[in-house]
Amino acid sequence: MQRVFELLKKKEIQLLLLIAFMVVISGGAWALYQTQIPPEQPILFPHDIHVQLQIQCLYCHPGAQRQASAGLPTQQKCWACHGQLKKYWDPAAPVPLEQWPVELQKLAGYVERNEPIPWVPVYIVPDHVHFNHRPHIAAGFACEQCHGDMSKQKVAELQQTINMGWCITCHQQNSVDDPQKRIKLIDCGTCHY
Ligand code: HEC
Ligand code: HEC
Ligand code: HEC
Ligand code: HEC
Ligand code: HEC
Repeated sequence: MQRVFELLKKKEIQLLLLIAFMVVISGGAWALYQTQIPPEQPILFPHDIHVQLQIQCLYCHPGAQRQASAGLPTQQKCWACHGQLKKYWDPAAPVPLEQWPVELQKLAGYVERNEPIPWVPVYIVPDHVHFNHRPHIAAGFACEQCHGDMSKQKVAELQQTINMGWCITCHQQNSVDDPQKRIKLIDCGTCHY
């Protein structure tokens, strides 16, 4: 028994137990996400149209550059364009709302009700893992590397099974000639804390 307590004091072991515990409690929700791909979205937002219009990813997902989470756009951000597109709002020939494409009518509904659009997450890591966009974007990775070519997707679809092997393989590949960096990038505490 004494030995067990000695063992439990070790930081690594405590971390492992913590992770194991969190895996058990978050496992159910996580499994659900994995089977619902792609999830049904409140509005079928077409990435292809918007990316081909050269609207920058960071315009709608500005957090990717500066913080952990990339963020999803609010109805106001959509409305900044859709509340004034000439195609629908031309004073000479305005298109009545009932004649708008259905998905845009839904958008107008959220704006009118001042109700946030409840986007359903697609890419997600379990609670016991901490992913942060910022260092990856700062290191020069393109969004496409992890999310695929969005100019060919409508609603976002999972392009990459997110597991520990995927993260660690890339971390190893990117620290081949920097042992110091490798230790940091494959340390359990870098992603689990
Ligand atoms: C920078 C301007 C801009 C922003 C921001 C923007 N859109 Fe668009 N969107 C467009 C343009 C331009 C089109 C093409 C218009 C067309 O042909 O009807 C379009 C097309 C669409 C369509 C397809 C309409 C159809 O013809 O079926 C949908 C749906 C849509 N947008 C939803 C959204 C949503 C939801 C958001 C916010 C997440 C958003 N848009 C943000 C400019 C924008
Ligand atoms: C006009 C706004 C707009 C632009 C531009 C845009 N997106 Fe999105 N993006 C959205 C919206 C709205 C969603 C939520 C709906 C969905 O998941 O399809 C989303 C979802 C995503 C998701 C899935 C998020 C999740 O919940 O896991 C990824 C990944 C993504 N976008 C990447 C990109 C990349 C990469 C680009 C640039 C090539 C880009 N987006 C450009 C509006 C935009
Ligand atoms: C190194 C791989 C990687 C790169 C590069 C990357 N992402 Fe992600 N992205 C992820 C992972 C992993 C998640 C799930 C994160 C989570 O659940 O906390 C995610 C989640 C997202 C989400 C939904 C959740 C959130 O963070 O708000 C959006 C939107 C997104 N990414 C957009 C982008 C955009 C835009 C870029 C480029 C500027 C980008 N990503 C670059 C791996 C990446
Ligand atoms: C495409 C390659 C790639 C993938 C995939 C990737 N990473 Fe990274 N990650 C890197 C690189 C390279 C760095 C170091 C960037 C730098 O030099 O600061 C990094 C840095 C990090 C950091 C910051 C480490 C620090 O210095 O504090 C964390 C945390 C992280 N990654 C977590 C993850 C997680 C979690 C996943 C999987 C969900 C993941 N990464 C997937 C390449 C990747
Ligand atoms: C680069 C990021 C990263 C590092 C470093 C990392 N992990 Fe993970 N780990 C993950 C991700 C992402 C998952 C979620 C995988 C999934 O759910 O399939 C995970 C899941 C786990 C799980 C849950 C079981 C499983 O396979 O899903 C355990 C336990 C775990 N990690 C332990 C560790 C230990 C111990 C270390 C150090 C030797 C470590 N991890 C280092 C990213 C990392």
